[in-house]
Amino acid sequence: MKRLRKAVFPVGGLGTRFLPATKAMPKEMLPVVDRPLIQYAVDEAREAGIEQMIFVTGRGKSAIEDHFDIAYELETTMSGRGKSLAILEATRMTPGSVAYVRQQEPMGLGHAVWCARDIVGDEPFAVLLADDFMVGRPGCLKQMVDAYERTGGNIICAQEVADDRTHLYGVITPGARSGRLTEVRGLVEKPAQGTAPSNLAVIGRYILQPEVMGVLASQEKGAGGEIQLTDAMAGMIGNQPFHGLTFDGTRYDCGDKAGYIQANMALALERDDIGPAVRAFGEGLFCRD
Ligand code: UTP
Repeated sequence: MKRLRKAVFPVGGLGTRFLPATKAMPKEMLPVVDRPLIQYAVDEAREAGIEQMIFVTGRGKSAIEDHFDIAYELETTMSGRGKSLAILEATRMTPGSVAYVRQQEPMGLGHAVWCARDIVGDEPFAVLLADDFMVGRPGCLKQMVDAYERTGGNIICAQEVADDRTHLYGVITPGARSGRLTEVRGLVEKPAQGTAPSNLAVIGRYILQPEVMGVLASQEKGAGGEIQLTDAMAGMIGNQPFHGLTFDGTRYDCGDKAGYIQANMALALERDDIGPAVRAFGEGLFCRD
């Protein structure tokens, strides 16, 4: 079994649910407290042992490249003022550990992943959607890598969702279950309400075998007229092991305004520096009659 070394971060979407905030700024640069979403995802990948980060970007996404680059002016000014640069440590990528590829048109998640095919090559790879913000110890991808070392094949992150929300997700037809692992027998993207095969939805973390790139090459459009990763993954079932892992932790859907605010509230309350002030403010706000 080949070791997992590479991760793809598709950041080419339009982020229309966050307009106008995302008109000139990528959704993935929205901060949860003081770190952008994409930084959390990269840190999660590093913790899982990923060595090469591949960003699939689009127009208007250059802030992401700048974020992971050296900021000479900022760093020189800060150093000159005697300020520590430790806070910027995690934003530094070592040479060769990062690659950027452009998705010229946002044709869907499957298309974004396919754009990274030459850099991924003939290796298994992870895909992380930064707007699915996962909080757990160990992190979500590390939990998946631990499972992958036992099962091999393909692993997707799975989460139970309410009946009235299945039409918003890729949904799993489940097979045998063993602890947090569920065998994936089928996958359907955004099933019409009342037709979902289960409540087990696909969340934005994947470990995939390189053969999925061959399936994506057909460029077939699915739900919403987009090239769907779910459809390509469905084409792999039966040929390779395929499992869903229910993550031990909390997921915040930061592609959605309510989920994003919840993530900020939860993480702010946990912080030693601002937690007490935020808690006091919240108590005053919620206890008002
Ligand atoms: P979403 O559908 O959640 O993101 O895609 P979006 O299209 O940017 O957001 P809304 O719905 O308009 O608000 C899930 C992930 O896939 C990426 C997005 O950047 C996001 O991380 N994506 C989506 C691409 O990279 N390219 C695409 O063509 C579509």
